[in-house]
Amino acid sequence: MISLVVLISGSGSNLRALLEATNRDDFPAKIVAVGADNDARGFEHARAFGIPTFVMAPGDFSTRDEWGGALLEQVRAAGADLVVCAGFMRILPAGFVQGLTPNLINMHPALLPLFPGAHAVRDALAAGATETGATVHVVDEGVDTGPVIRQVSLAIDPGETEAQLHERIKVLERALIVDTVSDIAHNLIDLKELARS
Ligand code: GRF
Repeated sequence: MISLVVLISGSGSNLRALLEATNRDDFPAKIVAVGADNDARGFEHARAFGIPTFVMAPGDFSTRDEWGGALLEQVRAAGADLVVCAGFMRILPAGFVQGLTPNLINMHPALLPLFPGAHAVRDALAAGATETGATVHVVDEGVDTGPVIRQVSLAIDPGETEAQLHERIKVLERALIVDTVSDIAHNLIDLKELARS
């Protein structure tokens, strides 16, 4: 059984999927804390499952590095084996990444390396892509540049809006993150090896 800290910024539907998975007897991970950079709406899911939450807002620190150091201390204190960024909309300071790598993963609503950044769904539509998807990757010091762990793709429907497409991607993301965490916990995915690649 591995211990997860999940970091969120918004609605936390991927967090919810992980919380529901941890209720299954055969799921090999538990969530020990949920953190956010603001008083995120998604905390309601953590509270519903009795999981402790914490807010670590960059604006409360004089530098990004200080913020990263405090965040690192917090996830270590919670006893995380793996940190999952599930809609955490902040670029993580290098010290935080170095302190956790390769046990720090992120989900992204596109087929990386295509469409990195905060507007992946909008960018895929603007580029006229006919296909996009979701990626789980190891976090490195770049923006959505770390080694890909798993991806799933889907066809973009003609005339689909950004909101409609993002919602369809998120359905895939929820299954992807649950399966990926399970496979990491079962040692079916070797994050160290991936991070070396
Ligand atoms: C997901 O699409 C994730 O990939 C992106 O932000 C969204 C978070 O959704 N980085 P939710 O907060 O889990 O509902």
